[in-house]
Amino acid sequence: MGVTVALIERFRDRLPVSDATPVVSLGEGSTPLLRAPRLSERLGVDLWLKWEASNPTGSYKDRGMTVAVSKALEEGARAVICASTGNTSASAAAYAARAGLPAVVLVAEGAARGKLIQARALGARVLAVRGSFDQALETARRLSDRGDHVLVNSLNPNRVEGQKTAVFEIVEELGGEPDAFVLPYGGGGNTTAYVKALSELGSGAAVHSVEAADRPRTLASAIRIEQPAHGRSVEASGAHVHAVSDEDIVAAWLELARLEGLFCEPSSAAGLAFLRGTDELRGTRVVVTITGHGLKDPGAADFHAPPPLVVDPDPDAIARAAERDLSE
Ligand code: F0G
Repeated sequence: MGVTVALIERFRDRLPVSDATPVVSLGEGSTPLLRAPRLSERLGVDLWLKWEASNPTGSYKDRGMTVAVSKALEEGARAVICASTGNTSASAAAYAARAGLPAVVLVAEGAARGKLIQARALGARVLAVRGSFDQALETARRLSDRGDHVLVNSLNPNRVEGQKTAVFEIVEELGGEPDAFVLPYGGGGNTTAYVKALSELGSGAAVHSVEAADRPRTLASAIRIEQPAHGRSVEASGAHVHAVSDEDIVAAWLELARLEGLFCEPSSAAGLAFLRGTDELRGTRVVVTITGHGLKDPGAADFHAPPPLVVDPDPDAIARAAERDLSE
């Protein structure tokens, strides 16, 4: 068995670290890239899924957080701060704990329950802001400007640097670039990171970034962001931006679980929701990034997935109930 390799060690030459950087790692990155045979057939593309939920805190945020927190420690930070729709706060809380630094996380109204519980359990000072993500982020920025807290949102360039590594892994694993990368678009930090990685590789692969059509109110709470902090850079990057409805997100989310066995949070299915509604990428090799785990948002699953059937502990009754399921 190999020893778990920290993402910073694996990609040291392409990250802003030196021998003086203390590596704060939880074994992030090196996530599975899974071929999706049933969805490939259904959608008419050669579809691959980058399963980022298998990162230590259950989302792709850990790739950027290992770099941001390691650099914060190197630079003598006394504490870190972030604003979040939930995943950034869980990741910041975990890496701060690992670094022995206090973390303050400002969580927006409506953040999914699993994420809040993670941040609380990991010992962060969790502050539920009466306001939107946009307001929470503005407040975190102002506080970090005072100098005591290092901001670990993706406005911190070290986050973007770390998040580039998903693209490096995909290209390495496929033995070349796919025709297109598809990922959800909330604040745009991850899109910015993907485009930067491709430009460093000299690749011309397309990036398709998918936002919720109703940004301020979408059920996909992770991407419920009115003003994307990286909006300008996404616009200038050449990434293609698409919008999908909540209805399409839910349909894609359930289909991914049922056809390929991947249970993600609704926001993570935005990319697939776009693919289901277009012929644009037909016949090409596409990698869709699945950004966060389904257990992050138990409320959404509870609402949209069928409840269990209650049965007596009787083999005949159970066989009948199972039969009904098999014939559906
Ligand atoms: N998918 C998930 C699961 C997310 O948590 C986020 C963002 C995105 C996609 C969108 O990525 O912002 O880089 O365009 N979550 C942030 C947070 C906003 O606070 O956890 P983006």
